[in-house]
Amino acid sequence: MAFELIGVASDHGGFCLKEAVKEHLESLGYTVMDYGTNSTNSVDYPDYAAAICKGILDGHISRGVLMCGTGIGASIAANRFRGIRAALCHDAYTAEMSRRHNDANLLVMGGRVIGEEVAKHLLEVWLNTPFEGGRHQRRLTLIEWNSRKGE
Ligand code: RB5
Repeated sequence: MAFELIGVASDHGGFCLKEAVKEHLESLGYTVMDYGTNSTNSVDYPDYAAAICKGILDGHISRGVLMCGTGIGASIAANRFRGIRAALCHDAYTAEMSRRHNDANLLVMGGRVIGEEVAKHLLEVWLNTPFEGGRHQRRLTLIEWNSRKGE
């Protein structure tokens, strides 16, 4: 496997899953940048979403995994950042398609929704699935253009 630096981040609701994801990524040979949080003490998920999104947009990490309790708040917050394609996934099929069709650069999971083993499995699927490009690239370009309308 080529060297790849991957980010992880979560709020308190995703903290336990983040720790499991981090350990699993390291066991697979990835280098991991941890953007916090560092405990189950209550924090605000938009801050952790912003930190990992900036890491991707600044080129410090190639892609990332973000978690909160449901994954919903984190994915809403992350998709406000232009250039971030955050995919909230609960199963391997959506994880695979988020790469093939959407070129997702941020995998989002709900720490209170899925178990660790399911999360590890869909993480591996997500890491190993390429973007198909072609008509899907045209659609991603449309997302970018449309998001600029009205500025
Ligand atoms: C925190 O209690 C919880 O609201 C958060 O982790 C997330 O689920 C929000 O969408």
